[in-house]
Amino acid sequence: MKTQDYIEIENQYGAHNYHPLDVVVAEAQGIWVTDVDGKRYMDCLAAYSAVNQGHCHPKIYEAFVEQAKHVTLTSRAFRNNMLPLLYKKLHEMTGYEMALPMNSGAEAVETAIKLARRWGYDVKGIEKDKAEIIVADGNFHGRTTTIVGFSDDPASFAGFGPYCHSAFPMHKYGDIDDLKSKITPNTAAIMVEPIQGEGGIVIPPDGYLKAIERICKEENILFLCDEIQSGLGRSGKLFAHYYENVRPDVVIIGKALSGGFYPVSAVLANKEIMLVIKPGEHGSTFGGNPLGAAVACRALDVLIEENLIEHSFEMGKYFVEKLSKIDSPNIVQVRGRGLWIGFVLNRKARPYCEALMREGILCKDTHENIIRIAPPLVIKKDEIDWAVGIIAKVMKELE
Ligand SMILES: Cc1ncc(COP(=O)(O)O)c(C=O)c1O
Repeated sequence: MKTQDYIEIENQYGAHNYHPLDVVVAEAQGIWVTDVDGKRYMDCLAAYSAVNQGHCHPKIYEAFVEQAKHVTLTSRAFRNNMLPLLYKKLHEMTGYEMALPMNSGAEAVETAIKLARRWGYDVKGIEKDKAEIIVADGNFHGRTTTIVGFSDDPASFAGFGPYCHSAFPMHKYGDIDDLKSKITPNTAAIMVEPIQGEGGIVIPPDGYLKAIERICKEENILFLCDEIQSGLGRSGKLFAHYYENVRPDVVIIGKALSGGFYPVSAVLANKEIMLVIKPGEHGSTFGGNPLGAAVACRALDVLIEENLIEHSFEMGKYFVEKLSKIDSPNIVQVRGRGLWIGFVLNRKARPYCEALMREGILCKDTHENIIRIAPPLVIKKDEIDWAVGIIAKVMKELE
């Protein structure tokens, strides 16, 4: 079967909840993917940062296959011999005392919300059912009904109500005065992305995260940091909040935690917060399973052993510098941290993504006029040079 055959089947039998580029991937390795017709592309999305370690990383593959020979799922009704190792590794890498494993990113965000609310009632003493979590405009935290209920993007929330807006007051991302104006005695937490990924790689003003940390301490509020997309090396640091040298109370991770082999997410916090949730009060059949834990342990090892976090920092700087030199009347801004780059145009980005696809680069438009460039962190300088050449050519052609 050829590309068009697969597309027809998918369009006929699959839900139309995505608008993918018409490339049907059949193979992937490192930063490269190959479609069913044998055409090769550079992947500049990295599965929304889930394959930071590169597609089908051999060491993660080895852990995946090896673990699948032994035990894949026990549910949490029983213990398994992989999850404790993941807990320990997460503690050693991040300094947080405990982790709570889930599967998708949205589930981990839901977990953090439950944790914050329970902490709000049990520790802070907020009146029953009154806890508020302040979020930011332009946020993206996932697709569950609770989460889309505090999105301001109609594509996420419209038509899926009813919502409880009073439980999630919204402030203007980056605006500390506005944030302060939303705080009430019922505020249990403030939840932000340290850089808004889906929002278009939006980097808040310097000092924003530091101010949130200070306000949270002063007002007895939890600081929840969603590092699902920004974390694990994407931004050029282990966590994007390291750029401001802050210590959120709760960090939410996912995506690259499994290097693309298996959905694994987690919430990180210290004991005094994590232990407000008691046995039987939260969980998931697949969360913390031995297959996911084995894969996550190896995926974390790869990030460190292959120096991918520092590499992301260096290559990201190089990529931004090179892209900034492209002379085009249609480029408004090139911004980014690490290998997480927002290439902002003064027109619709989708035709550019389609043209780039034809030339062998896969990337994704976001918010109409922004191309997000986020290759696996294993990309090398000469590959960046090649990509910049193609991008420059496409900018010229579509001028
Ligand atoms: C910051 C952030 N939070 C949460 C999510 C949701 O993760 P998932 O798609 O695994 O549910 C995403 C996904 O893109 C994200 O970027």
